[in-house]
Amino acid sequence: MTFNVPDVADVTGSVKSALLAINEAKDLAGLKIVKTEHLGDKSALSKASQALGKLAAENRAELGKVVGSAKAEVTAAFEAKLKELEIIRDLKVLSEERVDVSLPASKLPKGGLHPLTILTNEISDLFIGLGYRVAEGPELEAEWLNFDALNIPADHPARTMQDTFFIEPLESKLVLRTHTSPVQIRTMLENKPPIYVICPGRTYRADELDATHTPVFSQVEGLVIDRGITMADLKGTLDYFAQSIFGPNVKTRLRPSFFPFTEPSAEVDFFFNGRWIEWGGCGMVNPKVLEVCGIDTSEFSGFAFGMGLERTLMVRHGITDMHDIVEGDVRFTRSFGISGR
Ligand code: PHE
Repeated sequence: MTFNVPDVADVTGSVKSALLAINEAKDLAGLKIVKTEHLGDKSALSKASQALGKLAAENRAELGKVVGSAKAEVTAAFEAKLKELEIIRDLKVLSEERVDVSLPASKLPKGGLHPLTILTNEISDLFIGLGYRVAEGPELEAEWLNFDALNIPADHPARTMQDTFFIEPLESKLVLRTHTSPVQIRTMLENKPPIYVICPGRTYRADELDATHTPVFSQVEGLVIDRGITMADLKGTLDYFAQSIFGPNVKTRLRPSFFPFTEPSAEVDFFFNGRWIEWGGCGMVNPKVLEVCGIDTSEFSGFAFGMGLERTLMVRHGITDMHDIVEGDVRFTRSFGISGR
């Protein structure tokens, strides 16, 4: 609709159709189009205002009022509709994007360290606190380091197929280490005394997995080489170790035993929950072993100990079946907490 000369009936018609369109707008996008059409520069009402200028002054005042109030009416209707549609839009957004905070969240279970790792870290921290260093060695080990250098002769029963996983071809002279003691040799060959190391690690023996055995197990080895080291130092260290792991009142005792790489040798037991429990082996490092490693036995002496971590864990936590430790069921692991230590 264009106005050459505006006329009251046309203006009334424009208002009607504008109000109808506003009323029928379904949403804000639709209302925007209606606005351009009925209130925009090219709308009939705007054109009517522009055309007012062409009128004679006496007509202009009267028609000016008509056009002015027409625009005001349409603008007010538009504003009212805009508010209404905005409220509807807000309500829709609120209901569609609603979050029910009482719904159970889909939880991603947190990872946790295996209890053996937690224990290993705990023991490492303990000895680091005493000034020790953590030493490591490979699980695939030279037979010479696993046996010969430790004064375990070729005909020693520990070498037989029963206990040791040999690696083919046999000429490779490689084994899966049967204990962490080869790390003693590696440490003594690479470092000059004084030596204070703790060596946690995985070890292998050809045992069937049952309630108390596992072919893959873990040990922790301690080695001290310094001037004037005696068995009293060994005993004091074991007491401190046992008390830190099992409780402040725990006692240890040494029972005479034999290991080719220690002389004298002992089994170490600890008294826990009313009984003596075997923990591991220990002794003064055999001078033969020190000599193999080029350590002057007239100046230095040392002690070593080694114990199983699975057994330590089982006793401390009352675990009765080795399967629980090796199978990796998170229900077991989780009972030790999700500690990052
Ligand atoms: N290596 C021995 C074992 O596996 C334990 C041990 C370590 C004994 C150090 C004495 C000294 O049985």
